[in-house]
Amino acid sequence: MAKVTIIGATGQVGSYVAHAVSQFPHVQEMCLFGRVGNEKYLDGLAHDMMDSFAARGTNTRVSFGTNEKELRGSDIIVLTSGVPRKADQTRLDLALENAKIVKQYAEMVGRMAPDSILIVITNPVDIMTSVALKYSGMMPHRVFGLGTHLDSMRLKACLAEFFNVHVSEVHTRIIGEHGDSMVPMWSATTIGGIQIDNLLGAAKVPREEMIERVKNSGTYIIQSKGSTVYGPGDAIATLIKTIVEDENRMLTVSTQIRWDIVGQEGICISVPTRVTRGGVFPIAVWMADDEVKAFSNSVEVIKDVLKKVYSILDKK
Ligand code: 2OP
Repeated sequence: MAKVTIIGATGQVGSYVAHAVSQFPHVQEMCLFGRVGNEKYLDGLAHDMMDSFAARGTNTRVSFGTNEKELRGSDIIVLTSGVPRKADQTRLDLALENAKIVKQYAEMVGRMAPDSILIVITNPVDIMTSVALKYSGMMPHRVFGLGTHLDSMRLKACLAEFFNVHVSEVHTRIIGEHGDSMVPMWSATTIGGIQIDNLLGAAKVPREEMIERVKNSGTYIIQSKGSTVYGPGDAIATLIKTIVEDENRMLTVSTQIRWDIVGQEGICISVPTRVTRGGVFPIAVWMADDEVKAFSNSVEVIKDVLKKVYSILDKK
């Protein structure tokens, strides 16, 4: 059984995740956490959730808090707090502004719930995951970011539509930055268990167009309706389900990479990982030459921004 705490529960993604996750039997407690001054909103949200859970017959206990002590006993903490991206901004533009927010919460989690699993959503998520790992002082397998799990789901949907198959027939993953330098792993893409290059229709798959659509999906939705909610929300909820039910799935999330796994180290970026109740663990996989080259470029993009962010955060 698990206590799940949503930091940033007053936000659209945070409140959606709280509602989505409460349906999982192993989640017996939900804490809606936010900034001091938001107590009334959080109390109202908790009441609203309790009414929903009663109607659904969900037995999840709901609490709310703005004091760091409320984080105690959390098994999973989801960090969504931060300034939302504007349509004309890249995720990296947000880095400096959100790093300060994430640093504060990471230090809080490190003090109050060092044995929890911390899932970082705040963008730019790869940078924020590195910041959270550094300033929480937690173990690398216990701090990870949503990363390109959401992008992988978006590509999955595009391929299912193109091949006119059920989405569960598509297995694919995107690695690298959750952003413009993301890298599709066509070498690890199968439709109905068949490697995509072995499918007769493979030549016609508009790969570049699909990847551009995935890269621009977040921006397009933000331009259209102000923010992305259901996509990230359910991507996060499935990660939480995988952890609390110890499903041991191989998903692509932002985690600290290791030299022995990908020949790079020192930053958080999306790679294939094993997601378990104990945390996330990167998996060594073969990559095609073009994928290795593009992944190395993505690592450099993250390293460059992270260096700037740390120089500001560590300024005495
Ligand atoms: C997205 O792509 C929130 O960055 C996230 O929708």
